[in-house]
Amino acid sequence: MSKLTGSRKATQFTESVIREMTRLNQMYGGVNLSQGFPDFPAPAAIKDAACEAIRADVNQYAVTWGARPLRDAIAREFTRRYGLPIVADEQVTVCCGSTEAMMATMMAIIDPGDEVVIFEPFYENYGPDAILSGATPRYVTLHEPDWTFDPAQLAAAFNDKTKAIILNTPNNPTGKVFSRDELETIAALCRKWDAIAISDEIYEHIIYDGQQHIPIATLEGMADRTITLNGLSKTYSVTGWRVGWTISPPSLTGAIRKVHDFLTVGAAAPLQEAGAVALGLPDDYYLKLAANYQQRRDVLLEVLTRHHFTVYKPLGAYYIMTDISAFGFDDDVEFARYLVREIGVAAVPGSSFYKTPGAGRTKLRFCFCKRDETIADADKRMERLVPAGVQIH
Ligand SMILES: Cc1ncc(COP(=O)(O)O)c(C=O)c1O
Repeated sequence: MSKLTGSRKATQFTESVIREMTRLNQMYGGVNLSQGFPDFPAPAAIKDAACEAIRADVNQYAVTWGARPLRDAIAREFTRRYGLPIVADEQVTVCCGSTEAMMATMMAIIDPGDEVVIFEPFYENYGPDAILSGATPRYVTLHEPDWTFDPAQLAAAFNDKTKAIILNTPNNPTGKVFSRDELETIAALCRKWDAIAISDEIYEHIIYDGQQHIPIATLEGMADRTITLNGLSKTYSVTGWRVGWTISPPSLTGAIRKVHDFLTVGAAAPLQEAGAVALGLPDDYYLKLAANYQQRRDVLLEVLTRHHFTVYKPLGAYYIMTDISAFGFDDDVEFARYLVREIGVAAVPGSSFYKTPGAGRTKLRFCFCKRDETIADADKRMERLVPAGVQIH
């Protein structure tokens, strides 16, 4: 057999469906409500800080695990918000986005045969992350409309081989914000099975309707077994900067830093300086961010409902999961392609968030991290959508 092939690992997953939708959207000149990046400017203060850092010649490698001002700011802010003391030197590692933070974390803690519990629908990177790190994924379903899990099903997914559970709150794609009770259930299983919680909290500040973000690291007995992931991308509208981080117990930091060093050496030095400025923005910035997104959420919820989608109201993050049964298509990918080609609106097929075959077939995810005009344009284009029936939740 020819050796001119991809590895077994690389053939176990497909290219990102979300990025494919963005490409199709460019081809058909549509409105892109698929990939979660803002189409409005980042805050001027942090753009200025980045330019300043480049001019001041912060242009060489930063310390591999992150420039001190940024690591200090990450530790300071987590402690200030949640009351958990974090030692930057022992616990914070800056990576190239939380994407690399997740990969470095998984490669740092997983051995062949280890199992990792993942909720589905999931952020699409978690599947390939598990394959690349050699973990065996065990999926537990979140059920609409509230995206709750069955505690018995979750308990059944844990065993002696469980090394970690991946948690994402506020959640992409569902908008779910895990409650304290749910987090307690997860934490109890982590303690029982000596497992690690890997908590992706990248939408920490994008939260609605008076909901409260609770980092699982703050629950009893969890600080020593939680790796919290976060980044600049979503909070500061700079998805292209590629700056993220891990906050880990000191016992795991060394392994994460070693893997991170050999994967990427480090994140962009001047953007780390700007990151420290970003984390110092006043509380008002975060309140406005959430209020603005809540307004956009409400607009898109109304638009989608009017165009005959069944919507699941998100309590956090900037996506709306919908049910597309009203349109009479058998297949979500087929419908997503139809929507971008014929109507000119790109969204993400639900099946790309599920491992269970058939799950997600009637779902489609839209994002609303877009200017009012962009959402209005999508609204106008969707006037041509013809339903086969109407369902409202
Ligand atoms: C849940 C979740 N985690 C991580 C990421 C990627 O973040 P970053 O830009 O920091 O790599 C995304 C981006 O969409 C996301 O939705």
